[in-house]
This record gives sequence, C-alpha cells and structure tokens, in this order.
Amino acid sequence: MAGFSVFRFFRFLRSLCAPITACIGFSCLLAFIFILYQPTPGPGIVQKLGWQSWDLISMTDAQVEESTHTSAGSVATVPEGVDWWNVSKPQDNTIDAASLPLDEYAPLLPHDTGLSEISVQRCMFGPFMAQLCYPPSTPEQDAIKGKWVRVNKDLNRQSGLWHLNIYYRRTRRLDIPLVAELKLLPDSQSPPSTEKWIKTSRSIRDGVSGEPPLYLWYRTGKTVREMTTQEKQEDLITELDVLYGADRPWYGFDKLEPSVTIESGRVSSEWITYRKGVKRPPAAPPLHFSHDGRFKILQVADLHFSIAHTDCKDSLLSPCKDSDNLTSTLLGHILDEEKPDLVVFTGDQLNGQGTTWDTKSVFAKFAVAVTERRIPWTAVFGNHDDEDGAFKDEQMKLLQALPYNLVERGPKDVHGVGNYVLKVKSADPSKTHLLTLYFLDSGSYSKGYFDWLGWFRPTEYDYLHQSQINWFLQESGSINSIERPFSPDTAKDLGVLWERQSADQLTPETRKLAKPNAMMFFHIPLQESYSQPDKDTHTGASLDVGLRGLEPKGAAKKNEGFFEKALLAAMESEHLAKGSAREVKVVGNGHCHLTENCRRVKGVWLCFGGGGSYSGYSKIGFDKRFRVYDVYDYGETIRTYKRTEKDVILDEMILVGRGAAPAYTGRR
Ligand SMILES: *[C@@H]1O[C@H](CO)[C@@H](O)[C@H](O)[C@H]1NC(C)=O
Ligand SMILES: *[C@@H]1O[C@H](CO)[C@@H](O)[C@H](O)[C@H]1NC(C)=O
Repeated sequence: MAGFSVFRFFRFLRSLCAPITACIGFSCLLAFIFILYQPTPGPGIVQKLGWQSWDLISMTDAQVEESTHTSAGSVATVPEGVDWWNVSKPQDNTIDAASLPLDEYAPLLPHDTGLSEISVQRCMFGPFMAQLCYPPSTPEQDAIKGKWVRVNKDLNRQSGLWHLNIYYRRTRRLDIPLVAELKLLPDSQSPPSTEKWIKTSRSIRDGVSGEPPLYLWYRTGKTVREMTTQEKQEDLITELDVLYGADRPWYGFDKLEPSVTIESGRVSSEWITYRKGVKRPPAAPPLHFSHDGRFKILQVADLHFSIAHTDCKDSLLSPCKDSDNLTSTLLGHILDEEKPDLVVFTGDQLNGQGTTWDTKSVFAKFAVAVTERRIPWTAVFGNHDDEDGAFKDEQMKLLQALPYNLVERGPKDVHGVGNYVLKVKSADPSKTHLLTLYFLDSGSYSKGYFDWLGWFRPTEYDYLHQSQINWFLQESGSINSIERPFSPDTAKDLGVLWERQSADQLTPETRKLAKPNAMMFFHIPLQESYSQPDKDTHTGASLDVGLRGLEPKGAAKKNEGFFEKALLAAMESEHLAKGSAREVKVVGNGHCHLTENCRRVKGVWLCFGGGGSYSGYSKIGFDKRFRVYDVYDYGETIRTYKRTEKDVILDEMILVGRGAAPAYTGRR
C-alpha cells in the first residue's frame, strides 16, 4: 500500500515535470534561436561542431540511381535475352561511413559504424531537456570512443516512474574494440567470465514496479582493424532500437530476448532490437507490364493496425485475439492467390485513436505479407494515419525505408503529403508508358474542436484542395500521347490479340494517338461517389455494381471541385474531335469499410475497396475483401473484382476497354 502511494506521488511529480520542462525547454529554444545560433559555413577554425556533423545524409541515393538508371533509355546496355527492368546491378553494400554524423540517432540509415560503449540512464525530465541526462563523459573519452547517442525511445513509455533510455557511443576509430554481442539477464545471472562482458549499471526495468530487474550486458570483441569485411557486414552491431508491441522488428533488426516489459492489459510488450552489419532495404523494380501485356493491382484498404494486440472487430471468427496478425495472414493468402504486380494501400494503415503512438513499431509489421513476397507496393495516407505518433512527413521517411516501397513525398507546395505519379511501362525494350497511376493525399480533418481535456474532436473530413487540382492538371498535361492500342516491338502473339479484339468488340477500335489510361487512388471518397450513375446505353442498366447501403456516406462536406475541375477536365486526347474519353478511367478509394461498389459517373468509375481487416470496424456477416484491378491488352482493358476471406470472387466486371459498357458520350 505504501509502495503504491509512493508510486502515485512520483507519478504526480512526473506529471508536474512535463509542463515545467516544456516551459524551460521552450525558453532555451528561443535563447538558442535568437542569441546563440550562428549559421556557420562549414569546417574551419572557429566552428568545432564535432565529428563531421555537417555532412550531408541521403536516404534516397539508391532510388536516385535507380531512376536515372531506368530513365536513361539505355536500350543498348540491356544484354540480349534479359528484360530491361531485370538488369542486375552489382549489389553495392559499401556505405560511405563518413556521411553519418556520429552523435545523431538515425536508425533508418544503413550505416556500418560500430558501437563502443552502452549505458542505460534514467531521466526526470521530458525529451525537451534530455540533454541533462546524458551519461557522464570527458572530451578525451568522446574523442576515443565517440560521443553519447541517445536511443530516443523511452523504455518507460507506458509504465515507470521516470524516463529511461539507452545510450551508446559509436566510433570510426580502427583501434577500439566494438560491441559484438548483447544479452539481457536477471540480477542473479552473468555471462561466462572467460569473455569480456560488461554490465550496464541500471536495470532496463528501472522505475517499473512489480517486475524483476533485468540487465543489459554487452561484449566487446574485435576492433575494425582486426575485422574482415564479411565480419563487418555480418557480425558487427551497428544500431539499437526499441520495439513496442510483440510483432516484427524493423527491417534488418532482430529482437533481443526476453521482452523488457510483458504485455498486460493496456500496456503492450516492449523489446530491445539491434541490427548487425549493414542492411539496405531492397528496392522495388520499376513497374512494368508482362510480355503479354498484363498488370495486376491489389488494393488493400483500411488495415487499422495497432501497436498492441487487439481482438477482432465485428467478426464471427473465433478465436480472434490478434486481429493484425490474422489480417496479415489473410492478406498473405490473397497475395498467393492473386499474385499482383503492385499492392496499393489506400490509407488508414494505422488505427490512430491512441493505439499507434509509436508509428515505427506499427509500420514494421503492416506490409510484411507484401514485402516477404517481394511484391512492390505503395501507399497513400488516410484520416487516421497521423492521429497519433509521427507527423506525415516523418511517416513518409519511415515508409521509404521499407523494402520494395514505391512511395513518394511529392511536392511540398501542394496540400498533403504523398501526391505523386507512378508510370507502368511496357515489357519490350521500348519501355513505352502504358498506364498512369496517380496517388493523392485526401487529408485527415478540415474541421474540429478541442474538448475540455485538450483532445482534438474532428467534425469534418478533409478534401482534395485546389493546389492538388492544379498539381494533377500539371502532371496530366506533361504526359505524352502514345499510339493506341499499343503493339510491342517484338510482336509475335499480336495477331491473336487483334483477332480477339475484332471478334468481340462492339465498335471496332481504330488506332488513335492518346494518353495512356490512368487510375487514381486516394482515401476519402468524393461526393460524386454518391451521384447519379451513368446508364449502359445498350441495356439501360445503371452502371453501379456492389454494396454501398450498409453505412452512411463517407465523403467530406467541403469540396473544391476536384471531380469537375480535375477528373472531368483531363482528357485522353486534347483534340476535340477525339470525343469525351477522360484520362482517368478509375478512382479507387478506401475509408468506408462496408462500401465496396464501383459506380460510373460521367465516364469515370468511382470504386471502393471494401474493408479487408479484422482490426477495423465492420459488420457481422460482411466478409473481409480486397479489390483487384486486372489491367490487360497493354493497358487498354481494366477488369475488376473482389476476393473475399472465403475465396469467393465477387462482382467481376470490365470497367474499360474490350467488353466494357459503351463509353460515356456526354461532353461534361
Ligand atoms: C531476372 O533475373 C533473375 C536473375 O538473372 C532471374 O532469376 C529472374 O527469373 C529474372 N526475372 C524475370 C522476370 O525475368
Ligand atoms: C502471426 O503470429 C504467429 C505467432 O506469433 C507468427 O509465427 C506468424 O508469423 C504471424 N503471422 C504474420 C503474418 O505476421
């Protein structure tokens, strides 16, 4: 009982600390900005910034190389019999170690600098004043072993009386023994004394009541000079991190057993993770059609993953204790059945709502089913993704550090984060651009208020802004027309294609000069998703297939006219005589878990993915489902259907091209 009130007292102190710390921290910041900070031109006599801290760091080296490599039109450099996207570059694992600022914590960088010392320190102050809590050091030690780096993940994030962090030093010196192994041991145990093990002085459970102390031990081994290149790449410990929740560690990291805290109630488990050597996430190959002109996209909508394990929502599946894991397993099965060429996550990958406060821990697992199968993927943000945890710009950097991603930040002067274009090219050496994929950030909330506890209560969804309309029109305007339908250079089986085409086409397609077909993905639907559907002029039927009546409309109230000013305005061909075919044929949205229809409005198909996650809201009896877009005839024909958790194929239909309903003929 006494212990409990002491605990409460400390908790109370800690709650006082935060505002005071914030206030002092802010004053220091102002002082720093206005009095102390002097921009410096770089290395010189006056500035002693420490170890190369002005060096430039770039995460995207590999990607830049990739894009210059593929856009060079290097037909001649592709050897006979090898596909242009499959030209293997020698794996470059050498990292320019000099580009890492040694005193920065940057766990996303695939650097190879080893650690020389580790410490665990408690801190009474919040992150603002963490500078006061660094382990003691001297300039001499800093020079020999490196400066202390704080792993900025609080071990006592969810429980504990004070903040607790791991610190390490890292060095590029050749003569310092570096950390080769880590262990977590209870107080009573110690590693074999024959080796050089060092115990950190504080338990990694320091400040947590009711759990036995656990100590981090580390063993230093060889110096860089004594190591072979292989040892450096495989054995040397180069980074430490903390994972919340019991799922996957970040790409390239391993978990250190046992867990720091044990999952109980609302407290999720917590792990120390470490990386050995250099682990560059593999890059996605450039998007391309198959040789016979096919490209398949799988849409994954509204995963709603959390840090902690959660029970399934609105599902009869039993037992269903770990909904994220079950969803990943289901997604893995769908991927094995469909074998898509691209997976598009259409927002709300994160649940928000207080359950995703460490974005990185959730991002480590949300795409695992896809990355394990080496399938290129990309994503847009939904309204829940930035509700807690990192800001979207920070999230973008995390996503871009995952294997096989194709995510892009997009221009900074356009509303939102993640407005970008991906182009799918032909398989023949001409690399002709055959399909355009537009991705937009439909934002989170445009309106809301702060309640008396300081929580933000949203009242209205965000919408696509004028700057995004302008951006889209500009991007669309820069796309070159191609001769359609496309025929590859080495057209062996084309005869068959044209035969098929003339046999079952309603109006014989004449060759035309036009932009390739385009599809677009964003999270929150437009108001027009609920407008009057077009009619099939042959059958008189409404062009609207699938369910939409199970939940209220999910569109934003406000609207700057994206449908009229962007989707209806961008034509396949600028020539008036070429008719009214829109460039964007299909829009794919998420957001509404119980809505999964495709409706054509003024020539544009507006489709929903339908919920595929056991972690998001749903309805008993509504099977989880994923929408597939099967694009073939070298981009001319787009077919869609949904595959459910019971492997039922629903509402298969052709949206555009051979076998589709007659094209829209109205002007606007
Ligand atoms: C790409 O090249 C690798 C190695 O040469 C080969 O195993 C693979 O089948 C190729 N993939 C394609 C799609 O051609
Ligand atoms: C689900 O959890 C089990 C047990 O922890 C694990 O072995 C499996 O890999 C997980 N599946 C996925 C898809 O993460």
